[in-house]
Amino acid sequence: MRVYIIGAGPGDPKLLTLRGAELIASCPVVLYTGSLVPKEVIARARADAKVMDSSGMTLEQIVEVIVAARDTDQDVARVHTGDPMIFGSTAEQMRRLMELGIGYEIIPGVSSFTAAAAALGRELTLPELSQTVILTRAEGRTSMPEGEKLEALAKHQATLALFLSITLLKDVVRDLTPSYGADCPVAVVHKASWPDQVIVTGTLADIADKVRAAKLNSTSMVLVGRVLTATEFANSKLYDPEFTHRFRKGEPAVKTQGEMRAD
Ligand SMILES: C[S@@+](CC[C@H](N)C(=O)[O-])C[C@H]1O[C@@H](n2cnc3c(N)ncnc32)[C@H](O)[C@@H]1O
Repeated sequence: MRVYIIGAGPGDPKLLTLRGAELIASCPVVLYTGSLVPKEVIARARADAKVMDSSGMTLEQIVEVIVAARDTDQDVARVHTGDPMIFGSTAEQMRRLMELGIGYEIIPGVSSFTAAAAALGRELTLPELSQTVILTRAEGRTSMPEGEKLEALAKHQATLALFLSITLLKDVVRDLTPSYGADCPVAVVHKASWPDQVIVTGTLADIADKVRAAKLNSTSMVLVGRVLTATEFANSKLYDPEFTHRFRKGEPAVKTQGEMRAD
């Protein structure tokens, strides 16, 4: 018996991995986070599978379902939204499984931050502009560890992907503006990859008003950084004809007559 911790992806059922789909279709017990996992993903379950929504359960109730499955030697598909290893509350479940000696395997999924970037058509890392993406959240009822407060992270001026923060946008703007500047681009993607996806773009100066006007207050990814609108950025080394790497030998640039004379 095993527990398969499966990433369901951000919403579009076609973004579920083949391995995840296979396991959901074969496990006799399917336990899914009903708040964000689409019905089509769960519809793959066997007709005789025990399918349960964990959104109203406590950790101990989830563990009870898994222990009951273990006692009858039934595999469990534990389905989480996006990628289960990012803001998934999966660590505490894995810790309990380890304590109980129950084996588990993790099947990654497409996270909402990459789905949001895809919806925007923007690469989150650009040469010389940002080579770092910080995945974080604003401080709400869950406090942030010292050193990870938004004002501190903002000092890096890296691209930011903020989970679980849509209702805290005013605080986000307050904390980021001193380092990023009020004109820094911000994009909010609500329900990335779902049929009712909504995109709101702006700057730190106006995003809070725009999001309020659009009435977005749940399931949204907030992306911040100059990469969101940049057009003047350097090409990467990867496709540079002069750059040698493991899969391609670079050719020295052909010099013009003028350049040769200057040498
Ligand atoms: C509990 S976290 C789960 C994150 C998930 N593990 C992932 O990798 O995307 C829930 C938060 O993820 C973000 N989120 C999840 N699905 C989303 C989607 N389809 N579009 C935008 N944001 C989403 C929102 O910030 C939401 O508040």
